[in-house]
Amino acid sequence: MLNPAGKRHKSHKDWLVEHVNDPWVQRAQREGFRSRAAYKLIEIDRKDRLLRPGSVVVDLGAAPGSWCQVAQRALGPRGRIIAIDLLPMQGMTQVEFIEGDFGDDAVLAELEAKLGGAGVDLVMSDMLPNMTGVASIDSPRAIHLGELAAEFALAHLKADGRLLIKAYQGPGFPEFLQQLKRQFASVVSRKPEASRDRSAEIYLLASTPRPQATA
Ligand SMILES: C[S@@+](CC[C@H](N)C(=O)[O-])C[C@H]1O[C@@H](n2cnc3c(N)ncnc32)[C@H](O)[C@@H]1O
Repeated sequence: MLNPAGKRHKSHKDWLVEHVNDPWVQRAQREGFRSRAAYKLIEIDRKDRLLRPGSVVVDLGAAPGSWCQVAQRALGPRGRIIAIDLLPMQGMTQVEFIEGDFGDDAVLAELEAKLGGAGVDLVMSDMLPNMTGVASIDSPRAIHLGELAAEFALAHLKADGRLLIKAYQGPGFPEFLQQLKRQFASVVSRKPEASRDRSAEIYLLASTPRPQATA
């Protein structure tokens, strides 16, 4: 089958074969993680020390929940994780979950009510729009989700808080990166080993919101 760019989509069978043979998928199954995405956060956390005991973390695009699993282990009993996804997610003891669209005002209001004015140490967004395979469509959608996450982070992060966002290196990416650099004192990119080489996916880690910054 051809996508709108005229390229062949992987058949479901091809995808399944790649998935079951993927060493990260096999490792996730062995180690009890809900998805291979766990290893992306573990690698970034090892380098950048994002997850600290007692932290308040907001996880955007959380399902099936492997980032929540990693965070729950690192934060300990005094930590707090509030997670959002369009899809339902199997419960976890320490995760307060909201099912809904992060772009929806009612969902944002529910998240803010749960926070009750508490500052956030880390906003992490692994949100991914439905991909078409056409960069001129996918990239703006992915960037829009990143902008929503950044807007939320600027309003709710503590002074030394951090924002980790999945981004796509496609049309609009350089402008998005410049925008983040205006809003945060430091922005670095991370491409963890578990992120497939052929994917345009990259993670941006923004630290210390500039006090005057707005979305
Ligand atoms: C790559 S998955 C996240 C994997 C997750 N980090 C984990 O470790 O299990 C991306 C998720 O983003 C969610 N998502 C995409 N757009 C969203 C939106 N507007 N609001 C909430 N969740 C969204 C999708 O439903 C999907 O579950």
